[in-house]
Amino acid sequence: MRIYDLIAKKKHGEALTDAEIGYMIDGFVKGEIAEYQMSAMLMAIWFRDMDAHETTELTKAMARSGDKVDLSPIEGKKVDKHSTGGVGDKTSLIVAPIVAACGVKVAKMSGRGLGHTGGTVDKLEAIPGYRTALDRREFLDTLRECGVSLIGQSGNLAPADKKLYALRDVTATVDSIPLIASSIMSKKLAAGSDCILLDVKTGSGAFMKTLEDSIRLAQTMVAIGEGAGRRTVALITDMDTPLGHSIGNALEVIESMEVLKGRGPKDLVEVSLQLAANMLCLADKGTLEECRRMAEKAIADGSAFETFCHMARRHGGDDSVLRDYEKFPKAPYTLEVKAEQDGYITRMDAEKVGLTSVLLGAGRETKESAIDLSAGLVLHKKYGDAVRKGEPLVTFYTSRPEKLAEAESLYREAIRTGSEPPKKIPLVFARVERDSIERYDTGC
Ligand code: URA
Repeated sequence: MRIYDLIAKKKHGEALTDAEIGYMIDGFVKGEIAEYQMSAMLMAIWFRDMDAHETTELTKAMARSGDKVDLSPIEGKKVDKHSTGGVGDKTSLIVAPIVAACGVKVAKMSGRGLGHTGGTVDKLEAIPGYRTALDRREFLDTLRECGVSLIGQSGNLAPADKKLYALRDVTATVDSIPLIASSIMSKKLAAGSDCILLDVKTGSGAFMKTLEDSIRLAQTMVAIGEGAGRRTVALITDMDTPLGHSIGNALEVIESMEVLKGRGPKDLVEVSLQLAANMLCLADKGTLEECRRMAEKAIADGSAFETFCHMARRHGGDDSVLRDYEKFPKAPYTLEVKAEQDGYITRMDAEKVGLTSVLLGAGRETKESAIDLSAGLVLHKKYGDAVRKGEPLVTFYTSRPEKLAEAESLYREAIRTGSEPPKKIPLVFARVERDSIERYDTGC
């Protein structure tokens, strides 16, 4: 078999066989297939797509490229969650402790920020001392003791994804349904949980920009999860507007703690409650309505917040910052950007808002860049809000004063103002199960 022939086959739109997919992934992980050839293959897949069988085989080959986590020493159902990536998407920090406080174990391996999107591991590292790398024993002990452990992708879990993702990130091949589905599901299958909730983002700040593509991605991933014997459900949630008001690592930890203390912004609270209810329901804790009430109670009685603090301490973190935000490092420069006219915010390009936060230092411009954990922005006006000339739209936080002017002009490009209020957009568009799609059409 030669990778050259497989690239040519995919270039002509033919399906690869199981053996060919296995050969390609094994060879790439062992370093026998060069990155320039794999890049050509990724681009061929981007243009020619893969059918359901090929995507499943690709996922399985990637999942078996490294270790699998054995969660069997932990009693009860274990639930995992994964988002396809967004701007201001800090829901893992919120739903994981809620679900754990309701008695379901959450063993979650998260990633770092990618492109314009943020990552849970970077956010956790804003908590001084928090270790996102635990060995197997510490991970299982934390899970037993706190009910939740949020860690980074461990040593040899789905190494094929690690290598492929780095390549996709620099070859403009991230936004492909078979490539996203295999990337996410290979990690979820290797991570060992019984149930998986997927948060598939849709809109300008998501990798899938249209609802139909997002539903197709969700159906592909749900079919792979269920086919591997894991209960899998996907929610399609809005990413046309950033979630919540804060974007940037320490800022997002603070906003997440506000949600856990019962003081979060409405959109973030609503999406978090729906995700948590679905995770609890997957673990057979009750109907969706009952599970939602359980999640609400875990916020109201403070148990979800205490669970997060306990987990943070167990990971070596200083949880006093979660009670006194003044202890977080502060960005030395700020800029308030003001509205230039009266009206309503009729569009927020979430990708451009995310890129603004990267410019301010909250994300990586290259794989090697260091992140400024205190950098980011806080939105004062969002989609649908009325605004008057001179009112603050957003505040920037940065250690790079030289970037403020560029960040302001990019942010202004991301925002459109009109004279009429825009139509309401649902926060959750649909719930996708193995054999059904339930569509929702209510704005929140
Ligand atoms: N998140 C992942 O882990 N992989 C993707 O391809 C996209 C989002």
